[in-house]
Amino acid sequence: MPRYTSPRRTASDARGTSSFYPDDSGRWEGTGTSVRVVVGAQFGDEAKGKITDFLAADARYVVRTGGGPNAGHSIHLPEGTVVLHQLACGVLRHGVVGISGPGMVLQPMKLEAELQDLEKRGLLRGQVVLSDRAHVLLPVHEIEDAWQDEMRAGKAPGASLGTTKSGIGPAYADRSGRFGIRMGDLARPARVKEALEILYATKTHLPNLPAKDDLAGELAEVGSRLAPLIQSTEPMLWDAIGRGENILLEGAQSALLDVDFGTYPFVTSSHPTSAGALVGSGIPPTEVDEVIGVSKAYSTRVGAGPFPTEDTGESGEYLRRVGGERGATTGRPRRCGWLDLVLLRYAARLNGFTSLAVTKVDVLGGLEEVPVCTHYQMPDGSTVRDVLPSDADDLLRAQPMYDRLPGWPAFHQRLKDRVRAEGASALPSTLRRYLDRITEETGVPVQYVGYGADRSETVALGFPSGPARRASLTPWTG
Ligand code: IMO
Ligand code: MG
Repeated sequence: MPRYTSPRRTASDARGTSSFYPDDSGRWEGTGTSVRVVVGAQFGDEAKGKITDFLAADARYVVRTGGGPNAGHSIHLPEGTVVLHQLACGVLRHGVVGISGPGMVLQPMKLEAELQDLEKRGLLRGQVVLSDRAHVLLPVHEIEDAWQDEMRAGKAPGASLGTTKSGIGPAYADRSGRFGIRMGDLARPARVKEALEILYATKTHLPNLPAKDDLAGELAEVGSRLAPLIQSTEPMLWDAIGRGENILLEGAQSALLDVDFGTYPFVTSSHPTSAGALVGSGIPPTEVDEVIGVSKAYSTRVGAGPFPTEDTGESGEYLRRVGGERGATTGRPRRCGWLDLVLLRYAARLNGFTSLAVTKVDVLGGLEEVPVCTHYQMPDGSTVRDVLPSDADDLLRAQPMYDRLPGWPAFHQRLKDRVRAEGASALPSTLRRYLDRITEETGVPVQYVGYGADRSETVALGFPSGPARRASLTPWTG
């Protein structure tokens, strides 16, 4: 069957400088980007929100494709800091549609509070759309999440996952078990009542559940208020692709928290990979142009689970303090350590990164040396370079082996101003070498660098984007 080729327009077309051309077969092909996926390359909290917000300036649609209130995407606007949990960061920009997509589990009461907060602060500038296929995360799931983690801890030391307790695991389990309620159902109170009847029968072991009728009433009320926002989102996105509009898929969580490919069972319950972004939006793989992996210049993890490059000493404390490493959702201190190239290579292979965004390079500024883990030494004498041992216990036994790279100067305001004015060429040469080393080691060019929390503190490195450039080194022309 001939493949339907949608006419593509590029970001530059949108700005009026057309680069449309027909190829040999007479099909219209664009040269730029239409669908870009942003995914976390580590254990979450890589500043995906910051990078997505940066790229959203060029997008018409921004779609959150998975997770729910467990995510905390901090965006530092001139008006103050916003932490988005269930809304796509596109809602912060005029002319952008921010979609909470089909792959998400949405807690409608918290979602409404998030909307009201943005509205009150005058920051709700884009259009908000909630997928009718997204599942409803209920207060019941929050109770169940906390109950499960306590039960685990009671049965075996070290078995607690340290979830965000926002109900993610139970909500996805009920989705898979076909017990779920979807956002589109909220407009049908009789159906919600019936679904709660069945759902509650599966949860008789849980204490202190809200009364079914009260919950049904609350869902009907919040559902009627959110109703104008709840829509079918797939056709909207397919049509947008047809028109050549730019779409950004905003991942939450991260590759190493993927329920299948992460450090199971210390994972979340969704697929925070590029493949998961497609399932979570309904966009076919054939339409994706770029996959951007976001990694900090070092590593953090919040919650339990193996973390080979964790530094539990003074250096870890330094990173936590200077990097402000505290969970945006739970307020828990994040565990900190050094960049792990083994896991980054694994994430690159798993997600098919076409480029990397490296964030928080300013946090390491002023250090004499920066360690990076290049491989693991395993107890049996073998070396691991680019896979994740499938057993979390094996990862616990991995000995990370480090190279120590020269550090770069502190990011004082003067340096930040220069980078803002002159672009990537103003980045210190030792930092460039650090970024080049990441490219050499992963085969993925570093395309964006975050050098501060502020919205304006991201610099794009100048090279033509697209998969053809994979494996090339970063030319410093920006
Ligand atoms: P963003 O989108 C960091 C972690 C939790 C826990 C595990 C399972 O801000 O990067 P869950 O509540 O999902 O069942 O918890 O996953 N976790 C995150 N860690 N950033 C996140 O989101 C996370 N979402 C979940 O700490 O270890
Ligand atoms: Mg976060």
